[in-house]
Amino acid sequence: MAVEVINQKTAKYFDEWGDDYSHAWKSVARRRLSEFETGLVRRAIELAFKNFGGGCLKTLDIGVGTGRITEVFLDYPVEHYGIDVSAVMVNHCQEKFKSVEKIKHLVVCDIVNPLPGDWGKFDVVSAIRVLPYTPQWREALQNIYQTLKPGGIFVFNFPNKYSSAIIPKVVRGGKDQSCASSYGELRRVLAEIGFAEVKITGFARLLDVFYARCDSEFSANILLTVEKFLRAVFGPTLFARLLYCTCQK
Ligand SMILES: C[S@@+](CC[C@H](N)C(=O)[O-])C[C@H]1O[C@@H](n2cnc3c(N)ncnc32)[C@H](O)[C@@H]1O
Repeated sequence: MAVEVINQKTAKYFDEWGDDYSHAWKSVARRRLSEFETGLVRRAIELAFKNFGGGCLKTLDIGVGTGRITEVFLDYPVEHYGIDVSAVMVNHCQEKFKSVEKIKHLVVCDIVNPLPGDWGKFDVVSAIRVLPYTPQWREALQNIYQTLKPGGIFVFNFPNKYSSAIIPKVVRGGKDQSCASSYGELRRVLAEIGFAEVKITGFARLLDVFYARCDSEFSANILLTVEKFLRAVFGPTLFARLLYCTCQK
């Protein structure tokens, strides 16, 4: 299948989600998962402040969705840019952040293609829950590397094929569109692209359906206690459903 057809499919899929994507984060357990992800993005931004000194960072959020990750950047002194392959998601964020001066550009763009030519290079780039929908994720990673300044930080996540992340694909007879990789493959690909430092951690061994259903403090605490136990037994990444990478150029 040609590149554009696949990504038009992704755009259509997320156009249909629209505002409903925010509701996917409403359960208590999903909110805890979200706190883990936004915490990682905060640490990436703080690392960039350390690398580049004080002042203002130039930052890019790839796959803005309904703005969950963009909001994290806006807590800091930044000149912020955002892209998404879905026009509905871009319109949503343009409306949501219309009075925010820190945001320079929010445009429809597929990360498999180059960014608009005059945007220059970035101190921090994020792509949380985006690359799993990009079958050309290796090419996308190369593009992202080109958008960073030397010393710049990139934070993203990807499903681990050696985990329960593989179950939806099996259940749907291989028709599930999302991609998966492994700890070893991600390390290898990122090193080949040229990233100087790569840190990988993991989260969530239990199925996503539990995260969607655990909607009380009590059930979310039980779920996360089981996760903590599994992490103590297997370590941070082994069998983790989601792998989170923080990379430095
Ligand atoms: C699951 S949502 C995540 C949104 C946001 N990053 C978050 O974590 O809340 C994935 C978003 O990435 C966008 N996306 C998927 N593939 C993309 C690509 N190749 N280039 C740019 N955006 C993409 C989708 O349109 C969607 O808005």
